[in-house]
Amino acid sequence: MGATNPSTVLVTGGAGYIGSHTAKALRQAGYGVVIYDNLAAGHREAALGAPLIEGDIRDVEAVRRALRESGASAVMHFAAWLAVADSVRDPIGYYRNNVMGALGTLEAMAAEKIRHFVFSSTCAVYGEPVETPISETHPTAPINAYGQTKLAVEHALPHFERAYGIRSICLRYFNAAGADPDGELGEDHSPEIHVIPRAFDAASGGPPIDVFGEDYPTPDGTCLRDYIHVLDLADAHVRSLRRLEQNGASAIYNVGTERPSSVRDVIASVERVIGRPVASRPAPRRPGDPAILCASAARIRGELGWRPSRPDLDTIVGDAWRWHSAHPGGFAGPGQTPRRDSAHTTG
Ligand SMILES: NC(=O)c1ccc[n+]([C@@H]2O[C@H](COP(=O)([O-])OP(=O)(O)OC[C@H]3O[C@@H](n4cnc5c(N)ncnc54)[C@H](O)[C@@H]3O)[C@@H](O)[C@H]2O)c1
Repeated sequence: MGATNPSTVLVTGGAGYIGSHTAKALRQAGYGVVIYDNLAAGHREAALGAPLIEGDIRDVEAVRRALRESGASAVMHFAAWLAVADSVRDPIGYYRNNVMGALGTLEAMAAEKIRHFVFSSTCAVYGEPVETPISETHPTAPINAYGQTKLAVEHALPHFERAYGIRSICLRYFNAAGADPDGELGEDHSPEIHVIPRAFDAASGGPPIDVFGEDYPTPDGTCLRDYIHVLDLADAHVRSLRRLEQNGASAIYNVGTERPSSVRDVIASVERVIGRPVASRPAPRRPGDPAILCASAARIRGELGWRPSRPDLDTIVGDAWRWHSAHPGGFAGPGQTPRRDSAHTTG
């Protein structure tokens, strides 16, 4: 990545897990970065010294001010709530935060004439897969409010392009995992619902990890997921922005390794990497958990030249473990009480 591009990106949700890794990648690629985050689930330390504006994406005037003051020429929009189960219980909150928040950000962009938008979408827009691997042409039929809020924003984007000239790239991530190999950043969600950090906790004296369903039509009976290293997600964002800057058309891309791993594979990988057993216990299937979610990433490979640089599960787990073991209390540090001020911040 060259270090010659002087433009600045406003990164909403840049104090969170994927946003902070992407902000670091943007800075390494030579971009200026200003983070905009309400810190409901983010961590000030995750800004790594980049300017951080504390504000809410639903506050259009505040986003406009942030755009003006930062001199940003693009927005990467990570800010959202992302716990599927919470979204089923609290669709109002999810529509407010994820849909109204994104529309507020886009409204501010339209007013400030900012025309490049990279959006954090999700494989949850596909719902129950009718074929696998899943390509971008697979029907979209989310089965929970979370996925529906992301799809609602995707659907709004062509209208914002026609009316205000905002071109966009939607990145539909599969299962984000891993951590910054330099050890500066990692995953610190609370409560943590992602399987790899949960397995670390189970191996470190925490509760056993629940294995939700062992009778799926998969080789070992547990669900298969496509774990994508957060660094490779960050790279997909940098490439997407470059594409928009080079006048590339708006697009939607899956981002995944195309290599599915089962829950049992993850547990075995964690045991290999950290050299300790992971206690697990059987639990009933969760409603709406498809047996297999695996990406076809052919489109992003073909159009952006993107390739996963760290697709191996043990590499992903090893990077995550390095950060996790060095930061047992998360960003707040050992012995401190991590700040937990939102009921909607699970990963
Ligand atoms: N983690 C995954 O596996 C995954 C998979 C698919 C898609 N995504 C999407 O990626 C994005 C980032 O996910 P993450 O895992 O980094 O989550 P995260 O919770 O770590 O980061 C989200 C950040 O957004 C901020 N935020 C939330 N609502 C806000 C608001 N109203 N105003 C300002 N800031 C707000 C939070 O404080 C947090 O720092 C989300 O949009 C999520 O839907 C994540």
